[in-house]
Amino acid sequence: MKREESTGSFGTEVYKKIFRPVLFRFPPEMVHGLVLEGLNVSSAVGLGGLFRKYLSVRDEALQVSLATDSGRLDFPNPVGLAAGFDKDASAAGALEGLGFGFLEVGTLTPRPQKGNPRPRLRRFPADSALWNRMGFNNIGAERVASRFPRRRRLGIPVGFNIGKAKNTPLEAAAGDYLKSVELLFPWADFFVLNVSSPNTAGLRELQAAAVLERLLKAVRRRMEELALKSNRAGRPALFVKVSPDESSPDTLAETVLRGGAAGIVATNTTVRRDGLSGPVPPDGGVSGRPLRERSTDMLRRLYRASRGRLFLIGVGGVFTAEDAYEKVLAGASLVEVYTGLVYEGPALARDINRGLLTLLKRDGFSSVREAVGKGVKI
Ligand SMILES: Cc1cc2nc3c(=O)[nH]c(=O)nc-3n(C[C@H](O)[C@H](O)[C@H](O)COP(=O)(O)O)c2cc1C
Repeated sequence: MKREESTGSFGTEVYKKIFRPVLFRFPPEMVHGLVLEGLNVSSAVGLGGLFRKYLSVRDEALQVSLATDSGRLDFPNPVGLAAGFDKDASAAGALEGLGFGFLEVGTLTPRPQKGNPRPRLRRFPADSALWNRMGFNNIGAERVASRFPRRRRLGIPVGFNIGKAKNTPLEAAAGDYLKSVELLFPWADFFVLNVSSPNTAGLRELQAAAVLERLLKAVRRRMEELALKSNRAGRPALFVKVSPDESSPDTLAETVLRGGAAGIVATNTTVRRDGLSGPVPPDGGVSGRPLRERSTDMLRRLYRASRGRLFLIGVGGVFTAEDAYEKVLAGASLVEVYTGLVYEGPALARDINRGLLTLLKRDGFSSVREAVGKGVKI
């Protein structure tokens, strides 16, 4: 199971040689807003179907499903969009057209929040990295919930990543998570409790075993009550998003299992600064290439600790099919991308899916499902 780097597809090379140099001349947050708007406009004028035709890879070998105690989630392919890219769920329909197998939108807090002052997002192209201290800028779960009913239902699972508002004291954090769950429950295929952003003071303390177990149990209980009251079939699945800087993945895995969640999203950005050639601000989190090994290492340790009993989503530095495959072998059933999309462009999900099919075949696996965790000795 060798690790070889492949070059991107023609579309990706065009993006990197022509579009990226132009986009990278402008401030990253401005470009991000324009890209989301551009996606929405192209989808509104009917280009969504065309994108989907060229960028969706359909193959049984790529399909992954998650059986929960309340139903089943089917993912047409294992490549999803990571949280933070579409914080307000404003471009979900258009993003589906890029060939993703699922979307994680948010982080959402119950009410709108401005986030930290700008600049709060920077590129580090020499290291294929991003640095951010956004601080959960979002329009609030309330508004997202109010406009979701008008949306057509997507053909892929959509999860909501939810967090604590800046002004909510840490002791009252559970209230924010419960409120967002209530608001978004009818539209969620899964929820991800974000307890790992480095840009909300104290948030990472919610990863402490006793606190996290209590939080998970409270959310589970609330979802059971909501399921009884509503007419939706099955409850959304529950995940926890963890930091790559935690020193005890064994305790984390045990806690998440005891709390009754389906799995873990591993990982958020890192507060470490190794692997970077230039000076990076001391606060905030780093994503992209410098994070890859660190987050894959966390994933592997979570897989080993849970002996395969947790459904793991690997995120951090996925730029190629090889990166994604490495995460699958380390225990991920699904992967997500954010920084890779910025550096590799809109054909990334397709390139990864196509590449995965080749890598699976090379190593004699008949599907992604079969390869999960095969690189880990338990
Ligand atoms: C600008 C930016 C904003 C982000 N916002 C969020 C967020 O709101 N919630 C969250 O859970 N993760 C957030 N993330 C973290 C990503 O979801 C992901 O975990 C991390 O960037 C590692 O993946 P990558 O190397 O593919 O970017 C953000 C990342 C970036 C770069």
